[in-house]
Amino acid sequence: MSLHRLAAFAPSVRVAVPRGNYSIPRVGRPRRRFVVLSTMTPTDPGMSAVLSANRFQTHFSEPTQATPLDIVPKADWDEYVERQTPAQKAWLKAQSNPTSPTPVPAADASIDHFVLPVKPGSIDLWRLAAAFSGLPKGNLYWINESADFDDATIELAWGLTAYAFTKYKKQEDKPEAPTCLVRRTAADSPVRASVDRALQATYMVRDMISTPAEDFGPRNLEAAVSTLAAQHAARSTSIVGQQLLQHGYPQVHRVGRAASTERAPRLIELTWNESAQRAITLVGKGVCYDTGGLSLKPTNSMVTMSKDMGGAAHVLGLAHMIMSAQLDVRLRVLIPAVENSVSSNSFRPGDILTARNGTTTLNVNSDAEGRLILADALVAATEDNPELIVDFATLTGAQRVALGPDIPGVFCDDDALADQLYSAGNRMEDIVWRLPLHQPYRKLLDTPLADIKSCSSGGLGGAITAALYLKEFVGDCTWMHIDLMAYNSTSSPGRPEGGEAMGLRAAFELIRERFS
Ligand code: BES
Ligand code: MN
Ligand code: ZN
Repeated sequence: MSLHRLAAFAPSVRVAVPRGNYSIPRVGRPRRRFVVLSTMTPTDPGMSAVLSANRFQTHFSEPTQATPLDIVPKADWDEYVERQTPAQKAWLKAQSNPTSPTPVPAADASIDHFVLPVKPGSIDLWRLAAAFSGLPKGNLYWINESADFDDATIELAWGLTAYAFTKYKKQEDKPEAPTCLVRRTAADSPVRASVDRALQATYMVRDMISTPAEDFGPRNLEAAVSTLAAQHAARSTSIVGQQLLQHGYPQVHRVGRAASTERAPRLIELTWNESAQRAITLVGKGVCYDTGGLSLKPTNSMVTMSKDMGGAAHVLGLAHMIMSAQLDVRLRVLIPAVENSVSSNSFRPGDILTARNGTTTLNVNSDAEGRLILADALVAATEDNPELIVDFATLTGAQRVALGPDIPGVFCDDDALADQLYSAGNRMEDIVWRLPLHQPYRKLLDTPLADIKSCSSGGLGGAITAALYLKEFVGDCTWMHIDLMAYNSTSSPGRPEGGEAMGLRAAFELIRERFS
């Protein structure tokens, strides 16, 4: 079922919550009044992140009357101006070197069209996003001239620029009418489908990451998975709380047990297309909030830690793309979902944990929680021997020190696979960069007290030692680990502050190439 159709069905699956005050009759007691708190929403935030992923469509239109846009790279500017009517030429020359959308008048002084100067740069997507950002809002536009930018990149840039996370804004602060672009990709074309998939996945990922932990705990992540599963006729299951111990996910349980009951740890799984020959398994770090546990983070480091389920959001976005593209693969998604909380039963620095495969870990820092829960999930991922395991995780601060906030670090022992992801990323304008699984650093995790310790004492090469820890749990499987920020700390064109998809289009492209 398409996203669009399911979205239309959404009202029927909502939980009906009466508005305002209502009373519940109780036997033998006087009627009591209950107030519906304003925080109660009719849909689960996890569910709505999936169901509203198609809202980018409101920023597009099919061919109709609209204001023309001419997209003009700076290098072509003078030549462009020469081609305009004498009056427009004079007018454009009077605007000294415009850098933002510039209205060009018609003979009657109304706006004939806009010209969008595009700055030089290496990534067309962000150059276009910058060019689109300054357009007057609430109008309907069509592209008249597009230089050598392709339609898919234009539409992707448009959709990413149109994205806003306004759920927690007052109504009057929300944009009024959507700013729309007439599409040039043909309605039933594969190009259109790929743009739509990327936008759906990105909207979904951004919404999930930006939703605060209070509204997006392990249970909500589970709701997101089951909603996505329903859309694609996939199966989803969840192993919750104590059950994790019976089912062999002891580290997920240990890390997540300090959270309150309604935010209990869980192992969420989605399976799709089970009869296909070739299998791929995606694993995503689902830490719905990372306080650092007993190794408590300082406030400044904690404030964005609702995003620590960014890896889970990414594998769901990727799963959406794989399933909607109907790739001929057996897909399995494993998400260990926890909240790294502070409580009397928090796991402690100095504790020794046992993973699903029996490997013991000396926990030296409760803030290194992600690798512990991923370990169990990775072991489970190896059990049906898929052709490829890919994990996404907001695993280390060291990754962003190494590559900055925008570039995910990729760890993979298979050179050809790593190269293929790198070039897919370049082509999709979704850059990733390889970091080494440098085996000599493995000794930094040695301890006489257990099989391995969770992190090194110095912290140098922290992204690498974290990846080496994970490598202990993947056996001989072909595995790729992506350590990423999943977050924009400041807004730039097409990339608003908040949750961000990084390496998502690159990974999909790699999988599409390999598995079709
Ligand atoms: N979720 C964090 C990693 C993180 C921090 C990602 C900031 C993005 C931005 C992770 O759980 C963590 O706290 N890692 C520690 C590991 C350390 C204790 C070995 C880190 O990177 O400091
Ligand atoms: Mn942590
Ligand atoms: Zn974390």
